[in-house]
Amino acid sequence: MKIRSAERAALDGAVCDGRDLRLPAQLGVEQYARVNRLLVAAGGRYVPGRGAHVFEREAAAVLTELLAAGEVKTIRERTVERQMFPTPTPLVERLIDLAQVRAGQAVLEPSAGDGAIAERLAARGAIVDCIELDADSAARIRAGEYARSVVTGDFLKRPRRPVYDAVVMNPPFAGRQDLRHVEHAEGFVRPGGALVAVMGNGITGDSPRLVRFRQRVERLGGEFQHLPADAFRESGARARTVAVRIPVPVELNAPPPPRMPEVPKWQGLTPKDFGRPERPHQDGLFLLGDADELGTPPFDALGFGVPLHQAVAQR
Ligand SMILES: C[S@@+](CC[C@H](N)C(=O)[O-])C[C@H]1O[C@@H](n2cnc3c(N)ncnc32)[C@H](O)[C@@H]1O
Repeated sequence: MKIRSAERAALDGAVCDGRDLRLPAQLGVEQYARVNRLLVAAGGRYVPGRGAHVFEREAAAVLTELLAAGEVKTIRERTVERQMFPTPTPLVERLIDLAQVRAGQAVLEPSAGDGAIAERLAARGAIVDCIELDADSAARIRAGEYARSVVTGDFLKRPRRPVYDAVVMNPPFAGRQDLRHVEHAEGFVRPGGALVAVMGNGITGDSPRLVRFRQRVERLGGEFQHLPADAFRESGARARTVAVRIPVPVELNAPPPPRMPEVPKWQGLTPKDFGRPERPHQDGLFLLGDADELGTPPFDALGFGVPLHQAVAQR
């Protein structure tokens, strides 16, 4: 839906207050109806008691994005673009069982959507970190207060950090994104942990890349499980899917061994190697230490010191 100039004028005059957006009072019926459609498509909901469209995050941020984009996608368009097909609860439970997640474990959900998987993980006592591209969905997870952290952003751009006991995920599938997401997510599992993901059935294809992926999963002792054809029916998707479990062996993702201290050079060591360089000084009859441009103070002070150049020459 494009934002036309009359709607832009109305939105320019809107007042934002936290999650509330109030439109200017003097809009015509038709103009209001169209602006209302735009705001609802952007995730707002008119709440009569507040006289405002209420969003799940700062209304000013939503408005700025809306005006900058010059259009708003309908919920249907956004769903298809984001591949936002929430995982139905029975499948979520199956994925968590497959990952063998235990209470107290740290788990990452890297394409968390509205939190269907993350919420059940937290309900089982896991400590859950979420990443989600869509700001509204991320705000919904934050509002649920079950995740330890929620990052709004592109998971594929986040550097790998093998710190999680498990990753449980249902990434977008279109254009083989599921493979890219899963391969990236493997880098977030600590040695000995596991990754469980829903993937499109296309993963069973014959391209060399897919064959290599499946062989690697097999080598690691992982498994693929075909999911029922209607696994996502309640989310409005008819895609055939599989669940994959990838155990991350101890030698993969292991941190590099600590650096050994350098082997001491036992040969050719001099006192200088053990402390500060020796200053020139008198010790009984001996002149010790290298004379430098400051001379040899003990001798010089008594008036019979050896001139610097001779002291150096006599040694
Ligand atoms: C199939 S939905 C699954 C949502 C959730 N995992 C679930 O199981 O209900 C995929 C989600 O991935 C998000 N997504 C797509 N690309 C992403 C990316 N690069 N980084 C983070 N999230 C992404 C979409 O916005 C969408 O919410």
